[in-house]
Amino acid sequence: MEHRRRSGWMLFWLALSLTLSANGSARVPRVATRTKIGTGTGNGSQECPGGGWTGEVLDENARSVATDRSGERFEVGAPGDGMALLHIKGSPFELGRAHGVLLRSEIQTMYVRLFAHLEDQLIVALHLTLLPEALARRIARLALNAALDATYLLTLLYTPARFVDEMIGLAQGAQVEFDDVVRVQMIPELLQASCSMLGSWGPATWRSDKLREEEQSCGLFQMRALDWDMEAPIVDFPAVIFYHPADGNSFALFTWAGFIGCVTGYSGRLGISEKVWANSSASASRKGMPWHFALRDVLQLADGLDEATQLLGATSRTCPILVGIGSRQDNKFVLLGYSSDALQLYDDTNFTLITSAAPPPADTTFPGVVFVDKYVQPSDDRCMQSVVQQFYGKLDDLALLNMASMQETGGMHTALYDFASNEVLFSWAASDPNTGELVPAYKRNYLRLNMTSLANPIPRCPSHSGRRELSCM
Ligand SMILES: *[C@@H]1O[C@H](CO)[C@@H](O)[C@H](O)[C@H]1NC(C)=O
Ligand SMILES: *[C@@H]1O[C@H](CO)[C@@H](O)[C@H](O)[C@H]1NC(C)=O
Ligand SMILES: *[C@@H]1O[C@H](CO)[C@@H](O)[C@H](O)[C@H]1NC(C)=O
Ligand SMILES: *[C@@H]1O[C@H](CO)[C@@H](O)[C@H](O)[C@H]1NC(C)=O
Repeated sequence: MEHRRRSGWMLFWLALSLTLSANGSARVPRVATRTKIGTGTGNGSQECPGGGWTGEVLDENARSVATDRSGERFEVGAPGDGMALLHIKGSPFELGRAHGVLLRSEIQTMYVRLFAHLEDQLIVALHLTLLPEALARRIARLALNAALDATYLLTLLYTPARFVDEMIGLAQGAQVEFDDVVRVQMIPELLQASCSMLGSWGPATWRSDKLREEEQSCGLFQMRALDWDMEAPIVDFPAVIFYHPADGNSFALFTWAGFIGCVTGYSGRLGISEKVWANSSASASRKGMPWHFALRDVLQLADGLDEATQLLGATSRTCPILVGIGSRQDNKFVLLGYSSDALQLYDDTNFTLITSAAPPPADTTFPGVVFVDKYVQPSDDRCMQSVVQQFYGKLDDLALLNMASMQETGGMHTALYDFASNEVLFSWAASDPNTGELVPAYKRNYLRLNMTSLANPIPRCPSHSGRRELSCM
């Protein structure tokens, strides 16, 4: 394996990726400061750094603003505080081209600002600050391109041609260089984000006020909270993109202009969460399919957990991540320990094997709940645990967005998938119009997004007699 061959440029590369990731995740302390919480309308918990959530859930209020022969662009949210939402359809090339055309000016601006931001970080990391700025910037850009282009070459063999076709279409539609499109897609292979996730179903959501009577026993909710470098310019270019590909399932990506990987996604059948897995014994490889492409294929090609795990099992995997997958068909959420040579599945009976520092006491696992907090795993933080305890039986999307606020997780964006109602609540970081200060997503209002264009197969709820056996705690 190439990562054993420690040639000089590999060491440089390693230093580069460590430098870049340091800005994302490594700053997060391993143990939360247990300061007393503020008061929101939702109640806090002594174990958590943040207070309850005080925002509102707003209707998406979609306005069509542009059309293209294979797509349409909408603005959603309040005027002046909205974001772009696309529906695109067709072949991989057409999907990419429509995305590029409909978000052209955002993509052009975002790419320029993103590369400048990464150059700034590298100038400091590579001790180039004493050089004239133009020269330092040029060296940093060369180093960045070298690392990203090498990542592309190492992953190209394992990347289905349809992703390349889509990137060609995206470059043409947005009128940007193909090489830059590729480089932006490779960034997640080098960067690492600390995030949290949770899935709740069955007895954990039994008493939710949100669910209709016939959905009570099969309510499945999933939280995806993304914490990443809030100074990265992508924060200004959020976009929700509904893909309606010629082949496979339709799905939605919660992403950024010009970025086609799945960091956060939902298909009506499956929902995806992920976070970096800082496990020194888990294997990593530079050769393989970029993980955010592999996760996207799960949405497009799999209907349930068996298909999803088979697909990922057969994938040439790269870096270690923890993947959370909620499945409507199976009515549960599982955690996958994903690394280059293993794919291990954990559910509500055994996920604490990799998330808890010490063997947990028997009363700290709950049927129908799997979660991973924002710290390095295994973690001895008690916040999410205490909120699960507080809301158990009613762990629906509203409880989970309250949890994100208490744990202060989901700064970049937070998504709550409600499989029974086929709805997604979504929030993203944005500046306060009065103070100009960047407000983390978990504190802001959420939009209730219309997911009815995605398949939502008939739920297979247990029968009424089954429901009684599932009694709530
Ligand atoms: C918050 O606390 C109040 C008073 O202590 C209680 O009545 C209410 O049910 C609590 N709400 C939640 C969501 O726990
Ligand atoms: C680290 O990864 C290995 C291999 O996937 C796994 O067996 C082990 O349980 C993990 N350790 C921790 C502490 O998560
Ligand atoms: C966790 O439990 C599930 C069954 O509930 C099992 O399929 C899975 O293999 C277990 N995972 C590990 C790593 O032991
Ligand atoms: C949701 O979207 C579907 C088509 O995708 C549309 O038919 C329906 O009217 C929309 N619902 C609302 C409430 O906007």
